[in-house]
Amino acid sequence: MHDCIALYMLSCVPLHALSQPGGWVVRVIGVIGRKGGVGKTTVAIHLAAELASGRRKVVVVDADMQGSATYWAEPGNLPVEVVHLPLEGASAVAAWNRDIQNLDDDVVVVDGPPHLDAALGGIIGLADVVVVPCGPSGLDLVATGEVVGLVHEIRSNRSDDHPKLVIVPNRVDCRTNTGRELPDALKDLKEPIAPSLGDRTAFSDAFNAGEWVGAYAPGSKAHQEIQAVAKFIWRRMR
Ligand SMILES: Nc1ncnc2c1ncn2[C@@H]1O[C@H](COP(=O)(O)OP(=O)(O)O)[C@@H](O)[C@H]1O
Ligand SMILES: [Mg+2]
Repeated sequence: MHDCIALYMLSCVPLHALSQPGGWVVRVIGVIGRKGGVGKTTVAIHLAAELASGRRKVVVVDADMQGSATYWAEPGNLPVEVVHLPLEGASAVAAWNRDIQNLDDDVVVVDGPPHLDAALGGIIGLADVVVVPCGPSGLDLVATGEVVGLVHEIRSNRSDDHPKLVIVPNRVDCRTNTGRELPDALKDLKEPIAPSLGDRTAFSDAFNAGEWVGAYAPGSKAHQEIQAVAKFIWRRMR
């Protein structure tokens, strides 16, 4: 049995454990992948910021030891709080699950670490929806296929048949064949494909400014694209 799945079995938290005394259910979105540099942190921060503009109370849990999302939030210009709760190794997952359950928010967006390891199983085991950003290279496609396979295995071990899965084509350059072909290539995975995010400097410039594109470049293509992606994902939360 893969390490990730073994860990999920050990650390399994029933979904009803996330119901709060007030009666609402915390929604957990895990932004995951098994590679660095594919856009997990970019998607996690922007998804959270866009969902927060709909008056939901949203928090980003930075589960990556490297702390990129935490660094992004440091200047204090993001509309969401980022909490650094790095998740490394099997022994940490039960405590990490408890920390998430104690958060007093409507939506928790988890920015995942860049490895296919035990901790990833914990995130997939807890999430309602997992979002997998995929870049345009062949290697990105292979890595995404592996993550989708892992989600299917963990899902089959969960009594609630979750998490749902959404793939987000990222850094798509429609001027190139590879960029144009990415959404079609992803269809083979037979999971919902969100609208694409282009390869746009506004995303990297917003990071450098400690902002998200909704504040840094409101109304830009990048902003419109993240709005479409957030809408697509939110529809699958219901
Ligand atoms: N759609 C995009 N357009 C332009 N740059 C992007 C895009 N998505 C991510 N990036 C840039 O790529 C780099 C890696 O992204 P990041 O979100 O940190 O990936 P990960 O969290 O998977 O390691 C960052 O410099 C980020 O600004
Ligand atoms: Mg990251």
